[in-house]
Amino acid sequence: MSLGADNANVLLEQIDYYRARATEYDDWFLRRGRYDRGEDATRRWFEQVQEVRQALRALALDEKNVLELASGTGIWTEELCTRVAHLTAVDASSEMIALNRQRLGARAEKVTFIEADLFEWLPTQEFDAVVFCFWISHIPVSRIDEFLANVVKMLTPGGTVFFLDARKEHTGTAADHVLPSRDEELMTRRLDDGREFTIIKNFWTAAVLEDKCTRAGLNVEIRETADYFQFGTGTRG
Ligand SMILES: C[S@@+](CC[C@H](N)C(=O)[O-])C[C@H]1O[C@@H](n2cnc3c(N)ncnc32)[C@H](O)[C@@H]1O
Repeated sequence: MSLGADNANVLLEQIDYYRARATEYDDWFLRRGRYDRGEDATRRWFEQVQEVRQALRALALDEKNVLELASGTGIWTEELCTRVAHLTAVDASSEMIALNRQRLGARAEKVTFIEADLFEWLPTQEFDAVVFCFWISHIPVSRIDEFLANVVKMLTPGGTVFFLDARKEHTGTAADHVLPSRDEELMTRRLDDGREFTIIKNFWTAAVLEDKCTRAGLNVEIRETADYFQFGTGTRG
């Protein structure tokens, strides 16, 4: 199945999926339940998470005004909020935002949460840095150029961009998920209770994504860990 011109319903279903998944979302990151793909895979996963964390920590974000898109339960919000002067975190799911606030506790004082659809929303100010983790793969091919152009608008000149997503590795997802084949961008996702949702899932090659970033006005270098992650660091040109 490929995505037709009218993808609005899938984008709404994608929001519904994450709203319904919010309380079980961290099982994926923590490799629990259906996401536990064995001891070796778990060890490799966390080693590679550490590689990504180090890349994020190496960026000059301290005391900056930072925007996080699709902030989810706060796995990366937590990492960012201790360092930055102020963080604005946007997500379409109130359930995700509630879990994120809960994770941050008193640290949430530094964070402004905005519940909004990223296919509609644009900020009214520019930020020193924009960060989005596990979001770019959920953008339809037809909307990616527009999204990257919006990221440029969100950044001050010379501002920093950091993004992270999954490489196409089947042990990265749940045992009962099938990754989309080449040229497909729809994927069926299941919840623990068996409910199914159709979402967008694109795996970009580093070269194509770097080129798209350059065309949008972002100078980005994309790196990949051995199995699981692809991450980009760069600046607005
Ligand atoms: C894969 S999760 C990533 C969460 C977090 N960044 C992380 O790395 O754990 C995708 C997030 O995007 C949010 N989302 C889905 N569709 C959205 C939309 N149209 N606008 C804003 N957020 C959306 C979901 O609620 C979810 O929190």
